Amino acid sequence: MEMKEKNQDEFEKYKAEVAESVSVVQKRIIEEKKNRNYVKFSDYPSEELKDDVVKTVRESLGIEDAEVGLSVPPSHVPGDFAIEVFALAKKLGEKPNEVAKKIADDINKGQAGLVKDATVAGAFVNVETHKERLYQDILSKILELGESYGESDINAGKTAIIDYSAPNIAKPIGVGHLRSTIIGQALSNIYHETGYSVVRDNHLGDWGTQFGSLIYAYKEWGDEKKIAGNPIGELKDLYVRFHQLSEEHPEMKDKARELFVRLEKKDQEMVALWKRFRDLSLKDFERVYEQLGIKFDTNIGESYFTEQADKLVDECLANGFCRKDEASEAVVVDQMGDIPSFLLRKQDGSSLYLSRDLATLQFRANTFKPDAVLYVVGNEQDLNFKQLFELAKRAKYMPDGMVAKHIGFGMVLREGKKMSTRKGTLIELDELISQSIEKSKEILLQKNPDADPKELDKVAEIVGIGAILYNDLRQSRVKNISFDWDRMLDLEGGSAVYLQYSYVRINSILRKLTETYGEIDLSTLDKGDISFTNKSEFDLAKKLMMFPEIIAKAQETDSPHHVCVYLEELALLFNSFYNETSILKTEDQKLRDSRIALSKSVALVIKKGLSLLNIKVPEKM
Ligand code: ARG
Repeated sequence: MEMKEKNQDEFEKYKAEVAESVSVVQKRIIEEKKNRNYVKFSDYPSEELKDDVVKTVRESLGIEDAEVGLSVPPSHVPGDFAIEVFALAKKLGEKPNEVAKKIADDINKGQAGLVKDATVAGAFVNVETHKERLYQDILSKILELGESYGESDINAGKTAIIDYSAPNIAKPIGVGHLRSTIIGQALSNIYHETGYSVVRDNHLGDWGTQFGSLIYAYKEWGDEKKIAGNPIGELKDLYVRFHQLSEEHPEMKDKARELFVRLEKKDQEMVALWKRFRDLSLKDFERVYEQLGIKFDTNIGESYFTEQADKLVDECLANGFCRKDEASEAVVVDQMGDIPSFLLRKQDGSSLYLSRDLATLQFRANTFKPDAVLYVVGNEQDLNFKQLFELAKRAKYMPDGMVAKHIGFGMVLREGKKMSTRKGTLIELDELISQSIEKSKEILLQKNPDADPKELDKVAEIVGIGAILYNDLRQSRVKNISFDWDRMLDLEGGSAVYLQYSYVRINSILRKLTETYGEIDLSTLDKGDISFTNKSEFDLAKKLMMFPEIIAKAQETDSPHHVCVYLEELALLFNSFYNETSILKTEDQKLRDSRIALSKSVALVIKKGLSLLNIKVPEKM
């Protein structure tokens, strides 16, 4: 009896922990919406400039809602920015070059704000700005905002729940879950940056028939000593052993299913074992999360939703969204449009991944009133989420106005093929991380053979982990990725270490400047004092100007890779500027300080951009 009560407490305790974490987040969101200091997107120079152009275009063409995109033209084209008029001409049913001419003429007549004049080139209007003024606006904005440069209020007041990582208990985290973890964390950062309040939820796979198998295996072969030594390895071995033996002894599978049914009914003995496996796994996951710098607000696993899932299935049955299969007693949802039919409750009455997800979705909608819920899960679950979202919409568990999105991603390949446990081509995460750190160390040592060993270890960890994160994020996420060490650690570009080096290099330039000229105080640099002489400086400032827009684009399209592409282009432009100009030899103090401000801004944006991808920068390397 005593034992029974204690175990009941176990599940209740777990539920209380969840409730506590939820209420902490709810309070934080309310607080954030009231008191967060949002940076106004409309105050960014890019927006002011765009505003000046858009106003003229709208008036000129008489289209109230005309969308105008400003792009940076190739360097042989005159003008600082270009407006492409194809879409506008189509809307008006007029010839593109005539529309372009009309716009250019009106810009030249009006000369609003930052805009100086315009010329026509085919279907493009090339816009010339008051360079000096724009340049000053850009740099003084960055100096004023510092680390907040890039933030905005575009989505102020909105809430997003990001569901990512979600590994399965009693198994090691694999590379698939690694991708979800990396992409999900980057999206959390990027969403937050554009004004969203973000709930980072780890929807642990901590329920399902596999627990029946695991409990069976543990009861048969479990060895406490081995478990204490290597919990996850041992649990995995038990699981594998079960699978091998149960192929020949199918009755084992029946027994395991019975055990899971007992767990579903919260049988005390089962709950105790389950809780133990869960705690051991979480501890192991935590180690990886810490290494990668990943943080969650809530760890609400599937287990939390079994009872509610059951209720919802009954409700759906009563309302005719599903039906009981006569022969098997299982609950089925029939084909909806082009979405194929699927199971909602098993024949033995137990819940399913999808029914638990249905309850999760309802819980999220009620608890956090989110504007968006993102499910960062591999492409292979695409159909599952189509089924979930469609049923949730029909059965009204998903309020109108709430957006649920499946953020899919490709597989991790090894030598062009999918990895498989059976074929032994699986890379374990621990192995991957330590390999990356080891290789980073080699490269760092080649560059700097006298590095202090302690410093070297620290930097190698930052570089090694950055390489893994960046390799994942630099490509469009729906594509498959692989681990190509030469490319991941390429000092010439296309890698995190290239950006980290650029950052460190700017810092060392700034240090040298301080040695020569003493402490440099940019706060005394008046907007009117900021100047430049070379095109490469202006080009660099224009690029810096685009940073807030790029973050907005990455958020809108759920694609962190836009940030990567941008940062690489920025670093490249910095290199041309640096090769062309010697800041150290710049005699004129105002010009020198402006160049310092420019360099500092680049360093700041590289650091900030990488931090959105959850990648750190070393101060020296
Ligand atoms: N644990 C699941 C898996 O490994 C992923 C869960 C994703 N989130 C969700 N709400 N279904 O396949």
